[in-house]
Amino acid sequence: MQSLSGPANMDLVSETEKPSLPKGRNMSDKRSVTVIGLGPMGRATVKVLLDAGYDVTVWNRTRPKLDAIAELGAEPADTAAEAVAANDTVLLSLIDYGAMYGVLEQADLTGKTVVNLSSDSPEKARKGAEWVAERGGAFLTGAYMTQSDDLKHATSRLYVSGPENLYEAHRALLEVLVPGLEYLGADYGMAQLYYQAGLAQFHAFLNALEQAVAIIDGAGADVDKYIELASQTADGYRDFTLYFGAAAKQGGWGDVANFKMMHAGAQHVIDAAEEVGVDATLTRTIQGFYQRALEASEKTGSPVPVYRILRGSAA
Ligand SMILES: NC(=O)c1ccc[n+]([C@@H]2O[C@H](COP(=O)([O-])OP(=O)(O)OC[C@H]3O[C@@H](n4cnc5c(N)ncnc54)[C@H](OP(=O)(O)O)[C@@H]3O)[C@@H](O)[C@H]2O)c1
Repeated sequence: MQSLSGPANMDLVSETEKPSLPKGRNMSDKRSVTVIGLGPMGRATVKVLLDAGYDVTVWNRTRPKLDAIAELGAEPADTAAEAVAANDTVLLSLIDYGAMYGVLEQADLTGKTVVNLSSDSPEKARKGAEWVAERGGAFLTGAYMTQSDDLKHATSRLYVSGPENLYEAHRALLEVLVPGLEYLGADYGMAQLYYQAGLAQFHAFLNALEQAVAIIDGAGADVDKYIELASQTADGYRDFTLYFGAAAKQGGWGDVANFKMMHAGAQHVIDAAEEVGVDATLTRTIQGFYQRALEASEKTGSPVPVYRILRGSAA
């Protein structure tokens, strides 16, 4: 999950950001790992590992990010192949799975474990795992469900899937990264599946928040006051999420009266937005789902919730 805090500034490495040096370590407790890809998430990963006393070898396609992270105490490699050769475990933090193939093309993956923390679809993760296995490596899919690059935020999670014994073998390393690990099974696609579902929710949330603040600001009202009120309301979404879980098992949320209320409510939002010149496309799309729920309910003679329409199981 991306957060409101925005991405870290990759170009600046202040003194206060520098992690403390590992204390009292000797060769027998040496722990080391390679991190490839130094966007905001890769860099946050490296910092957490350095803080925990790991020796970290790093590589990035473009040099300035590599040099910046080397200032923190990581060991820069000249090529991705060298970075892979340096350690048994390689963490990837790239824009997507497509980038992995070019990056690891020249590397010897024999006996290595690749943990790909990049985002992509479940099927792309499964294909990625196959590709690594063909080259003699083992694979775990990882997906950061975090508050942007704040890996240590209390709600930050790492979703992991792949062979359970491999997960167990790397658990101590992965536990360093976030307060909560979620192992989601042997299917390599599962970590991405759960992550992309969460991202679908976050995208809608962020776009809705943007629209809401635009309405307030467009009307010349107090944005700070709105943020205060909205954060109070957001606390209640947890309860509704739990309630929805039960409703989904019954085919989804709402009856015809609810769909009519939501349809009319959407119109009120559209009117409020357009009165102050704010684009209401998002709410029109939402209203369209309730329109379809009403039409399907009318046709079948029983409530057809939006959830059933999305599932494709509506009559
Ligand atoms: N940012 C977040 O809040 C967040 C949260 C959870 C998950 N994620 C996911 O974590 C992954 C990393 O995210 P990010 O925000 O750190 O950075 P990003 O901007 O998505 O990815 C940047 C990294 O990918 C590299 N890259 C891109 N295309 C490449 C290519 N063709 N070949 C080699 N390297 C390539 C970049 O190298 P260069 O520096 O050379 O361009 C850089 O190291 C993404 O999949 C993202 O969706 C992000």
